[in-house]
Amino acid sequence: MSTFIVQGGAKLSGEIAVKGAKNAALKIIPAAILSADKITINNLPNIEDISRSLELLQNIGASISRHKDVCEIQIDKNIKTELEPKLANKFRASIMFVGPILARTGEVSFPHPGGCVLGAAQRPIDLFLEGFQAMGAAVAWQDGFYHIKAAKLKGCEYFFTTISVTGTESLMMTAVLASGTTVLKNCAMEPEIKALADYLNLQGAKIQGAGTPTIVITGVDSITAGKYDIIPDRIETGTFAILAAATKSSIKITRCNPSHIESLLAIFAKQGIGFKTGPDWLQIYPGEFIKPYNVQTHEYPGFPTDLQSPYTVLMTQARGSSLIHETIYDRRLLFSDMLTQMGADIIMCDPHRIVVNGPAKLYGRKLASPDLRAGIAIIIAALVAEGTTEIENIYQIERGYEDIDGRLRALGADIKKIGTLNL
Ligand code: EPU
Repeated sequence: MSTFIVQGGAKLSGEIAVKGAKNAALKIIPAAILSADKITINNLPNIEDISRSLELLQNIGASISRHKDVCEIQIDKNIKTELEPKLANKFRASIMFVGPILARTGEVSFPHPGGCVLGAAQRPIDLFLEGFQAMGAAVAWQDGFYHIKAAKLKGCEYFFTTISVTGTESLMMTAVLASGTTVLKNCAMEPEIKALADYLNLQGAKIQGAGTPTIVITGVDSITAGKYDIIPDRIETGTFAILAAATKSSIKITRCNPSHIESLLAIFAKQGIGFKTGPDWLQIYPGEFIKPYNVQTHEYPGFPTDLQSPYTVLMTQARGSSLIHETIYDRRLLFSDMLTQMGADIIMCDPHRIVVNGPAKLYGRKLASPDLRAGIAIIIAALVAEGTTEIENIYQIERGYEDIDGRLRALGADIKKIGTLNL
């Protein structure tokens, strides 16, 4: 168990390069199951969630060689059709293995996936199951496992009654090897979905419309080898932009795609936070005063729920009140209690809405990271605060941000990691 010790108050400067997108890589890895040939993935982030995903892939039957940010994967001829609970329970994205295994072998068994608890109940997978059924699969629940079987998956029409990122990606991947045409409606439009479709199309899949609400997949018998560069992580990009604005630091963010965080930049433009963009960089020139601005999280291209917690920290430094409306997850605002402990003035209206009154002076405290995005938000708050903040449970940060302390130190942040002995 390790802890981050953060000393606040320093102005940051310099450049920070964005890593490959976690939420793109977590789909590209299981998509390898659909291909009989060797695939090469570049720009793979070196984070816990990716290691877990590769571990699960190896467990079902794959040879994997990973060197720095490049990974080669060759799937075995015969793969296991059961996801090992000890591995699958460790991360929500284990659900991404289900569709490809079903498409390749005609059957799959798995426990309910683990991962961050972001809602009142376990995160549901009803849309995935409905979609598989629409493709002709039979779904059963027995002895703590879902069991799904399909002699031959058939193309179908499926309408998502709730927009789901991983649901869209799962059914899109599964339909690649189904017979006939699948039409998915009311799909999520996140850039990671388009990235997955681009990758599959490079290997011979026939997917049209990814990145729009309607995706049409024409089934093919097999797909071949591929090489793919993981797209830059837009949530890291937005998080570093917020970090710069909150600490009033001029920072250049490189190896990113600014067009993927237009919703944040459009708000910055109204708040007096200056920025310049190039094709793969973003420079933030913070103003002295930040204007408050209400946000409502929304599916892409709206304001991402994954930036809500860092944005809440930023609003503690704005001059006035902002309403933050979290529409996707009903537990994601609970972390704001930690900001209150640090000195923020935040009123919780209901589980989905808070009002943040700024500017507030923040003070260092001893806290534990509740989840990935709240964890990085606490680091930003700690860098803004006066005094020392001790952040425990940093697994919940490191599983999504590669070498975060080292990269922030390179910007001049006073953050160190100390190990604690388990006696
Ligand atoms: N939902 C259902 N039924 C389902 C699936 C989802 O009701 O079968 C609901 C969820 O409960 C939620 C809503 O649909 O209220 C949207 O959830 P979605 O399925 O879109 O979320 P996800 O696909 O599980 C991905 C990212 C999340 C990100 C969300 C929203 C991955 C691996 N995860 O989750 O990322 O917050 O989309 O953009 O891609 C993170 O990186 O910290 C993270 C949580």
